[in-house]
Amino acid sequence: NRSLKIGMFGFGCVGQGLYDILENNEGFRAELVKICVKDRTKPRKLPSRYFTFDKEDILENPEINLVVELINDADEAYHIVTTALKKGKIVVTANKKMLAEHLAELVALQEQYDTALLYEASACGSIPIIRNLEEYYDNELLFAVSGIMNGSSNYILSKIFNENLSYHTALKQAQDLGFAETDPTLDVGGFDALNKLCILAVHAYGTLIRPEDAFNYGIQSLSVHDIQFAKEKGYKIKLLASVRKTQENAITAFVIPQFIKKEDYLYNVENEYNGVTVEAAFADRQFFMGKGAGGHPTGSAVLSDISASRYQYKYEYKKLAQHHNIRYTTEHQLEV
Ligand code: HSE
Repeated sequence: NRSLKIGMFGFGCVGQGLYDILENNEGFRAELVKICVKDRTKPRKLPSRYFTFDKEDILENPEINLVVELINDADEAYHIVTTALKKGKIVVTANKKMLAEHLAELVALQEQYDTALLYEASACGSIPIIRNLEEYYDNELLFAVSGIMNGSSNYILSKIFNENLSYHTALKQAQDLGFAETDPTLDVGGFDALNKLCILAVHAYGTLIRPEDAFNYGIQSLSVHDIQFAKEKGYKIKLLASVRKTQENAITAFVIPQFIKKEDYLYNVENEYNGVTVEAAFADRQFFMGKGAGGHPTGSAVLSDISASRYQYKYEYKKLAQHHNIRYTTEHQLEV
């Protein structure tokens, strides 16, 4: 049980959520030493001594043994995370885009520098889905991992279906509530859900799928006719992300809006909630639901990683290590 000295990058929705949680968690012994932010003019609710504008104040500080990376910019995040790992610091990140693009290299760095890289908050917010895939289904064949993995798109669709809001009003609300990415195209274009799906595929199948190799189609081009049709039939439309086994040694992945019937678990997953179904050979079908976006729910996932790191927890990538060699195929991408 080591003592943690935390250096944090970013103080946006999730960073502030994490700060609130740490503040209200008296039994949790971890010291937030420094927060690196970009904007020098923004008023902040903490004394200025906490803040720095210089990355080196964290990365070059030997006292800081854990880096929490919660910034938007995936390229900048890549630089921060790789530098921190090379210094032997534990890294907790929520940056799904950066992870989906660089996971193989980051996993290798964590091994080389004998440290830990944890990222439960990167996929499906407060749902502990990475930890589950990592630990529970070790010897189980998974048929599919699928569901709603983007809170903003789901929020928008919920508002369109339940409150007749327009797409643009609902998107604006998702932005104001801090659910959407800085560039909301990532949300509504299906890219964010795809990045999360690629991360889950590593833990479910041991297969690294590059986001650019998988099919994704967002909700931005849904027409009033699609919505009308769904309503007439008593369906909803949800943005579904799915990775599934197709044949011997092959999986396929895609993100696409789908009509969802009342009987489906996903039908009642509304607003910023995410819902993930795991279909397994023996466990059969399991369904996990929780808030997929927002400061406190996502902050709670970051906290769980920080907490786990005190006990030297790290992902073992057993499925990667077992050389399952499950290949990725595009053959059946639209067969659902
Ligand atoms: N923009 C993301 C979403 C945030 O809406 O799901 C959480 O990853």
